[in-house]
Amino acid sequence: MKRTIKDLKNIKDKRVLLRCDFNVPLDNYGDILDETRITASIPTIKYLNDQNCKLIICSHLGRPKGYDKFLSLFPVAVCLMKYFPGKVKFCPKVVGDEVKRDIAKMKDGDILVIENLRFDPREEANDLSFVKELASYADIYVDDAFGVAHRKHASNYGVALKLPNAIGFLIEKELKVFDEAFKNPKRPFVAIFGGAKIKDKLPLIENVIGKADTILIGGGMAYTFLLAKGINIGKSIVDLSLVDEAKNILAKAKKAGTKIILPVDHVALRNGRVVKPIVLETDMVGLDIGKGTIKLFSAEIKKAGQIVWNGPLGKYEDKAFRKGTFKIAKAVAKSSAYSIVGGGDSVGAINTLGFAGCVDHLSTGGGASMKLMEGKTLPAIEVIDTL
Ligand code: 3PG
Repeated sequence: MKRTIKDLKNIKDKRVLLRCDFNVPLDNYGDILDETRITASIPTIKYLNDQNCKLIICSHLGRPKGYDKFLSLFPVAVCLMKYFPGKVKFCPKVVGDEVKRDIAKMKDGDILVIENLRFDPREEANDLSFVKELASYADIYVDDAFGVAHRKHASNYGVALKLPNAIGFLIEKELKVFDEAFKNPKRPFVAIFGGAKIKDKLPLIENVIGKADTILIGGGMAYTFLLAKGINIGKSIVDLSLVDEAKNILAKAKKAGTKIILPVDHVALRNGRVVKPIVLETDMVGLDIGKGTIKLFSAEIKKAGQIVWNGPLGKYEDKAFRKGTFKIAKAVAKSSAYSIVGGGDSVGAINTLGFAGCVDHLSTGGGASMKLMEGKTLPAIEVIDTL
């Protein structure tokens, strides 16, 4: 059992460095498009604030190469001001005298948001000089950044080795949800996997075989599986180096009694025109699941006792090929099953359709939740002390 903030003794009035994942989508004006990752950390921030801690909050935002004014954490600090009026200040630096001065001036119950950690290249390199600098800001370290827990960076790995540490409520909940879902699934357990990068998803599918009753596969990776079954995929995206591996997975699933269901029809492009074939012809590019597949997948979803969904069912970034993902989002939201949704586009589809309240757990982690589903541990969590 990892130590949580509730297990920390004597934290009243202490300086706490809180690592959050405030990697939120921004529009061209710097406005936050989806505050989910911020609101998800509010319980942890509130708890520490209620203890009168001097709270120094840090996060990354995007993947900047050095300073980038479009990736400042200032809009995040402004958002936090709504929840903690009069308590939040923003420091436009990550390290240096200005940060140290601002921290020295903090009173009990103050919250200071420092600038985007990734403006300093030492963050991703887990550089010891950066680790020491961050550790010098506080007496205690709390990690609530689930979304980045599969990375081994200075602010979520190095610092944890230097300070008394604990996980926040957000991470505690994410770990509990995934642990229970895989150890003790409600049945039938239906896993839905999509996305284009089959290489990233194969370990996840492998780990779910034998645990899930049914796996529904859509998105770009489905075409490698279809080819493995000898089905024509036209000019659709495929990873030829993984066709044999896909064959093995299909055989393994059959042996384990896990049903894998692949698309039975498609929305495709042929010479720039959208077509809806059952069988893809040689000049077609499959880009979304078709009506028949939506019906087939939805029927499985309706029967489920537990659903885990990761990845879009079609080329989600292209509006013309979003319907399959939206329809599956609707089926998941309408289902009475216990539902967990992870991954940017799947969570995005649920939020866009206003279904967030109909899903039991919307994970704040894409890559991190995938690692948990692969049955792997997360380095940033491993480094936190156990009880
Ligand atoms: C995410 O959005 O998945 C996390 O914030 C991690 O971001 P990264 O992939 O840029 O490390």
